Amino acid sequence: MNKAVIGLQWGDEGKGKIVDYLSEDYDLVVRYQGGNNAGHTVIVDDNTYKLNLIPSGVIRGKICFLGQGVVLDPNHFYNEYNQISKKIKNPKVFLSSNISLILDYHKHLDRINERILNTKNKIGTTSKGIGPAYQDKVGRKSIKLHDLKSKEVIQEKLKSIKKFYDPILESFDESKINIDQTVHDLFIFYELVKELIIDNSLVKKEFKDKKILFEGAQGALLDLDHGSYPFVTSSNTVSSNIVIGSAFQVDYQTVGIFKAYATRVGNGPFPSELFDNVGEYIAEKGLEIGTVTKRKRRCGWLDLVSLKYSCEINQVKELCMTKADVLNNLSEIKVCKSYNKMKYDEVNFNESNILESLSLDDKDFEVFPSWGEIKNLSNFETLPENLKKFILYIENYLNIPIKIISLGPERSQTIIR
Ligand code: GDP
Ligand code: IMO
Ligand code: MG
Repeated sequence: MNKAVIGLQWGDEGKGKIVDYLSEDYDLVVRYQGGNNAGHTVIVDDNTYKLNLIPSGVIRGKICFLGQGVVLDPNHFYNEYNQISKKIKNPKVFLSSNISLILDYHKHLDRINERILNTKNKIGTTSKGIGPAYQDKVGRKSIKLHDLKSKEVIQEKLKSIKKFYDPILESFDESKINIDQTVHDLFIFYELVKELIIDNSLVKKEFKDKKILFEGAQGALLDLDHGSYPFVTSSNTVSSNIVIGSAFQVDYQTVGIFKAYATRVGNGPFPSELFDNVGEYIAEKGLEIGTVTKRKRRCGWLDLVSLKYSCEINQVKELCMTKADVLNNLSEIKVCKSYNKMKYDEVNFNESNILESLSLDDKDFEVFPSWGEIKNLSNFETLPENLKKFILYIENYLNIPIKIISLGPERSQTIIR
């Protein structure tokens, strides 16, 4: 059965590590949304891999495919491809010809968008041009990979893009669009990567009968339609976007992945956020620094209310929990089980202001005693009793089995139940 690994929180749940782990049993690993706003760290033996666009299956030499739901920054892709080529011999990476490109003006517009918002309303984007690139896709202006075959086509598209955006760019003192330079750069890029580009009409034929692992980027609570809008990313991160963004109309089972606590980079509501020493401790011990922007991640307790919602919108059938090892030596570990006694289905995750105004009290948390150090990672049974109780409580609350438990960044620090 094909599988999808989908983040259930605000991203950085450990998707890269788990996709690498699971990809052993798959032929093809596919991204279907997002761009280089994603940052996935995978550690195998003494090697650390930092990936933004290329699926983590590349580490095991699997075929990797970026579907048309991805937005692709040519420079970034080329550098990442070169970097990974130094570590992995002949990486097998393919790009849908229908992918929309991120160009420099998208990054300038991303900055402008943030500048015009007052402090309270700033999204805190990764500044990679993601929102403006998706805006152009929806606005039917995007330059697609297949356009790069013809200088005339790129030139013609850029002419109207320039008319549309130059007045805005100019009024905010950002560089105007340079058509000649952009055409020149894109043409060079095309010559370098054209062997990797594949038409959607060929995708299904080319990858027929392959066992597919879909790699989500970001997380369910950053989904454009289901997340805490407007503090979201500009793509649909939920599993149902797989069919739209990947060109594969196939069945798959969703593995929902979450950390044993919660983090968020950027702004927006975070009901179980910690503002004390415990939050600081988790950030430090969990190395909670953004891979892409190097920003400190906000930390809080695991929020089962939003997790349950994320499981539903992604039709999650099995779970993966990561990073409980970060909580090892805390004297008590909490999980949020209610929002001021409201039932979770009364909470509208699209309404950021409602979530923002929640202030949780003791009754909203279940408290677990410390489980100390984890000495034996061989299987679930050998884990400390208090950790097992924590895991069983979460399973019971969500009514979904936790089949994968990750207790360290290394590929080998993983338990399958
Ligand atoms: P992704 O965006 O979902 O792929 O997650 P990131 O790679 O951005 O962030 C997860 C971080 O936690 C990475 O630095 C991983 O190496 C690390 N990590 C993954 N799983 C575990 C785990 O179980 N325990 C610990 N301590 N670190 C982990
Ligand atoms: P991975 O795949 C965590 C956040 C940004 C910001 C919001 C919008 O590593 O889990 P954008 O640049 O997408 O317009 O920013 O979304 N964000 C992420 N946070 N992990 C990610 O990806 C993220 N990708 C975007 O911090 O709050
Ligand atoms: Mg990440």
